Amino acid sequence: MTDASASVSSTEPLDAMVELLAGLDTDGGEGGRAFYDRLCEAMCRLTSMERAGLLLYEEARRIVVPAGSHGFDTELVGGVHGTLEETPIAQRAFAEDRVVETAGDLAGQVPARYAELPGITSLTCTPVSAGGRWLGVIFADRGGPEFTLTERERHTMWTLGKTAALAASARIAATQHERARLLSERVDLAREVHERVMQRLFGVSLVLGAETELGPEQRRRAADEIQAAVADLRHALARPVAPPRTDIGATLRQELERLGSSYKGPPLTVEWDPAVEVPQELEQLSQSVLAEALRNAHKHADPTRVDVRVGAQDGTFVLEVVNDGVDHSLRGRGAGMGLRLAALDALQTGGVVDFGPTGDSDNDWRVRLVVPLGADDR
Ligand SMILES: Nc1ncnc2c1ncn2[C@@H]1O[C@H](COP(=O)(O)OP(=O)(O)OP(=O)(O)O)[C@@H](O)[C@H]1O
Ligand SMILES: [Mg+2]
Repeated sequence: MTDASASVSSTEPLDAMVELLAGLDTDGGEGGRAFYDRLCEAMCRLTSMERAGLLLYEEARRIVVPAGSHGFDTELVGGVHGTLEETPIAQRAFAEDRVVETAGDLAGQVPARYAELPGITSLTCTPVSAGGRWLGVIFADRGGPEFTLTERERHTMWTLGKTAALAASARIAATQHERARLLSERVDLAREVHERVMQRLFGVSLVLGAETELGPEQRRRAADEIQAAVADLRHALARPVAPPRTDIGATLRQELERLGSSYKGPPLTVEWDPAVEVPQELEQLSQSVLAEALRNAHKHADPTRVDVRVGAQDGTFVLEVVNDGVDHSLRGRGAGMGLRLAALDALQTGGVVDFGPTGDSDNDWRVRLVVPLGADDR
């Protein structure tokens, strides 16, 4: 091979990177699935790999979940999940920042539940990491037979891993930005409600609380003020403040099943009242409350157990997440926004989120979502 031909083809991965990134804007939606699918397809086109699946780390659930694939049965890929701890091959790829191949038996290199899958013998693992931050992995193979990668293939795959990392970190930054924007919108909403509605109601309460009998004129004015307060409230709440949900397509039940088998953390118990189903319109809300509760359990406590309860009480839907391991001496002043945002979200469906120590034990903390069932029909 001449130097000229080497340098021509060595730009291939770069070309692919540029091409992929150029299409990033238009891919949009679905958490970038189309983009990651194309990236997997590019990996198969530019190397001898025939199938590739890309998994990205999700902070809230603390596991990697599928983000895109090519050549694999989508249903098979859809259910894959795992943690870095149970995947030594990914640890190695990340620590050495290079594409690694499995050697011999898959057991002990990938989670036990995948080591036995038929048709997977040799497997490559490409790190999706940037700046020392592990964001995920790409698994690829030749659809069964054993193989050895060439240096060039390794380089191409590594470059595509970096491309995925670039896109994933851009998305994370965009989500944080979006969160900040939503927060300021909601603060505006809270201010509007406070300034207009509360002022009116306060005026009315003063009139009603006065010792003297109300004359017809005062009565009429109080009624008008209440009408106006209700109208203001309607107006304020009609504004689109609900967050753009990151629809992960799963239901709360599937989500809990998935967490049950692979949750990286203390034992997670689920107590689900068999008579209760999550109403469709509460799926996203309950999943986001669950995610925030789990995130908080790890951030603010050192839990040895997390209990999730789904049930119904007096015509309301109830989701409760309790963790132990709260060290009160370490408790901050609670300046965060996660639970407050969840509470505002719940308000949109007439629900509430309450949280705090359970009272049963000093070291337990509870987050509870309560939403009237059928609230939308009222
Ligand atoms: N599981 C928990 N155990 C102990 N304390 C908690 C727990 N969850 C929340 N808290 C307390 O409640 C406060 C508010 O939680 P919230 O989720 O609103 O904010 P945050 O987690 O501090 O920040 P953010 O969610 O904005 O990243 C926390 O700062 C913490 O003091
Ligand atoms: Mg939080």
